[in-house]
Amino acid sequence: MIDHPTRDAGFGVYLHWPFCLAKCPYCDFNSHVRAKPVDEARFVAAFRREIAASAALTPGRTVTSIFLGGGTPSLMQPQTVAALIDAVAAAWPVAPDAEVTLEANPTSVEAERFRGYRAAGVNRVSLGVQALNDADLRRLGRLHTAQEALAAVAVAAAHFERTSFDLIYARPGQTSAAWAAELREAIAHAAEHLSLYQLTIEPDTWFERLYKAGKLVLPTPEEARALYDVTQEICEAAGLPAYEISNHARPGAESRHNLLYWRYGEYVGLGPGAHGRIVTAQGRIATATEKHPETWLELVERNGHGVVTQEVLTAEEEGDEFLLMGLRLREGVDPRRYEALAGRPLDERRIADLLGEGLITRRIGARLAVTPVGFPVLDAVVADLAA
Ligand SMILES: C[S@@+](CC[C@H](N)C(=O)[O-])C[C@H]1O[C@@H](n2cnc3c(N)ncnc32)[C@H](O)[C@@H]1O
Ligand code: SF4
Repeated sequence: MIDHPTRDAGFGVYLHWPFCLAKCPYCDFNSHVRAKPVDEARFVAAFRREIAASAALTPGRTVTSIFLGGGTPSLMQPQTVAALIDAVAAAWPVAPDAEVTLEANPTSVEAERFRGYRAAGVNRVSLGVQALNDADLRRLGRLHTAQEALAAVAVAAAHFERTSFDLIYARPGQTSAAWAAELREAIAHAAEHLSLYQLTIEPDTWFERLYKAGKLVLPTPEEARALYDVTQEICEAAGLPAYEISNHARPGAESRHNLLYWRYGEYVGLGPGAHGRIVTAQGRIATATEKHPETWLELVERNGHGVVTQEVLTAEEEGDEFLLMGLRLREGVDPRRYEALAGRPLDERRIADLLGEGLITRRIGARLAVTPVGFPVLDAVVADLAA
């Protein structure tokens, strides 16, 4: 087994399902709408080949988590999900307690498939609820009502031992009081995990066009900060502290797959537009597959995989990625691991400055972590430390 400072965090398998029923106006994920039904059997055959090709590059690993993300994986038939999970289990040993997450949209049609997903081996579901008021759901382009979403949350809780749901806040016109009430309602329905994302205007989205035309007014930085503070306060009090800048969990209920990314572990990315980080004899390799679903399909059918980028990361790049991911976590990063990856220690003067400004703190074991004051300016803190 190849020794590398990132080999201790587990081994994850990410599978991307790139289709949605409609494109949400804020979303820049690799998601596509198709007028005709998707040929799921053809995609399964391609996934099987790409899984086998990637297993050949990663011998000796034991899978600790599988994540079916999208797009909208809950549009897949349960037998498709079963075939994908079985293909992973045929390619690598899977730990008995492996976390197997599926992202789902909370419509009633999709909730009807939950029993089948459970039988297929899914043990955790993450639902995109996004808002708990219908006017905002419509503005976000969602195809479900708040009531339908909460019903899907309840169905999920009945079928899966672990569930989570996502909300988007800092929406146009949203006041702190309105968000606080909505978040309290969400927490009353939440089990062990919540992802709370501030609305971001992503390039080449419909929201970006509206924003540039002055038709979408976002909270000011001060208002966004107040919304962030309210979020932390309410979640802390409810026993769901942030373990990552946007992710809250009861202690022990964190998403193990996402922790693998943030702890800079090893994972393969399969399916259209998926990213992986694998450790080979050449070093840590960044992989990316073809984004366009049907082009990916043709590539895999021709070559056995859809990988279009495969780059050995330099020590500098590894160090930067490690900081970028790890400083999102409340637990922070171990500077010795940075040194092992980057080939040089962090700059003590910069650390001292950031400590002095109260943006970072030293935790047990000399770990460096961003403080609640630092999180709203995380990008600047990372850039400063990485320089
Ligand atoms: C790629 S989506 C997949 C989940 C599923 N398709 C859904 O929409 O429910 C993952 C999550 O990213 C978040 N997200 C996507 N675009 C965002 C944006 N522009 N700003 C904030 N959050 C966003 C949403 O909360 C969404 O649930
Ligand atoms: S937010 Fe989810 S449902 Fe909407 S376009 Fe993005 S991936 Fe698809």
